[in-house]
Amino acid sequence: MKILIIGGGNMGTTFAQSFLAAHIIRPKDLIILEKNEQRLEFLHSAEIGDIHNEAGDYIHDVDLLVLAVKPQNTEDLFPIIKPYLNPEQLVLSIMAGVQMKSIEEGLGVKKVIRAMPNLPAQVGMGMTAFTAKEEVSRKELIEVQNLLSTTGRAIYFEEESMLDAATAISGSGPAYVFYFMKSMIAAAEKLGFSETHAELLVWQTFMGAVHLHNKNSISPEEWIKRVSSKGGTTEAAVNVFEARNLGEDIQEGIFAAFERSKELGGK
Ligand SMILES: NC(=O)c1ccc[n+]([C@@H]2O[C@H](COP(=O)([O-])OP(=O)(O)OC[C@H]3O[C@@H](n4cnc5c(N)ncnc54)[C@H](OP(=O)(O)O)[C@@H]3O)[C@@H](O)[C@H]2O)c1
Repeated sequence: MKILIIGGGNMGTTFAQSFLAAHIIRPKDLIILEKNEQRLEFLHSAEIGDIHNEAGDYIHDVDLLVLAVKPQNTEDLFPIIKPYLNPEQLVLSIMAGVQMKSIEEGLGVKKVIRAMPNLPAQVGMGMTAFTAKEEVSRKELIEVQNLLSTTGRAIYFEEESMLDAATAISGSGPAYVFYFMKSMIAAAEKLGFSETHAELLVWQTFMGAVHLHNKNSISPEEWIKRVSSKGGTTEAAVNVFEARNLGEDIQEGIFAAFERSKELGGK
């Protein structure tokens, strides 16, 4: 399979490096189209695939096109690459909020797959939700799932609307976790720890909790019960969270992300 990644920024590069590290494609079958001078310099020095700074005939021979530019760049990009595409070419978009129908219309293609990855893809721990037009064959869908899985876990949804929901959960989710960490670090500093010690206590607590959950997949509610003893310190903290409806506030934040994702996609 010959792959062209358009946009060699954070995500485009992560995808390229993950495909190569997993040996799922050979370096000679990976092309990156990038226009930013600084990124081009980086891509050349990192020797990632065959680098181009302009569209050209090479696009004809590509089996899969990965769209990894910012959504606002599609207006300029689509008219430039459209003349090189044929309707049978497979297009995978990882652009947040861009609906498959606008890719179909903008590029004149039928076989579109839309995926929503997240930042931990950079360390092979990503969570990607994806969906596809019915014109995409089962074989093509599995090939793309194999590619997405090189960045972590990938899950298919039949309904495109679930990608907005996934954007609000796993797409933006790493920021929610960091927000909680930030609050814990601030509290630790107020309790007298140095910044370094506060960070260590918090990072390691998160790592430990996640590893614990990996080993024994009981529900978060059950874990909270196991950590809390009656009349103890954890219970004192959880009682404050509950009294202030922290759980509902977090849900409200997630629903706002969901609405914003729909808005950005023009729905
Ligand atoms: N980062 C994330 O965590 C994340 C998560 C999920 C989805 N995504 C999606 O992934 C996509 C890429 O995000 P990113 O963070 O990787 O962005 P990024 O770092 O800005 O990368 C995009 C790259 O594409 C280049 N570019 C723009 N127009 C181009 C064109 N016409 N031809 C070739 N290259 C072009 C940009 O150059 P200039 O900077 O000069 O414009 C930039 O180097 C976005 O659509 C985003 O919604 C990102």
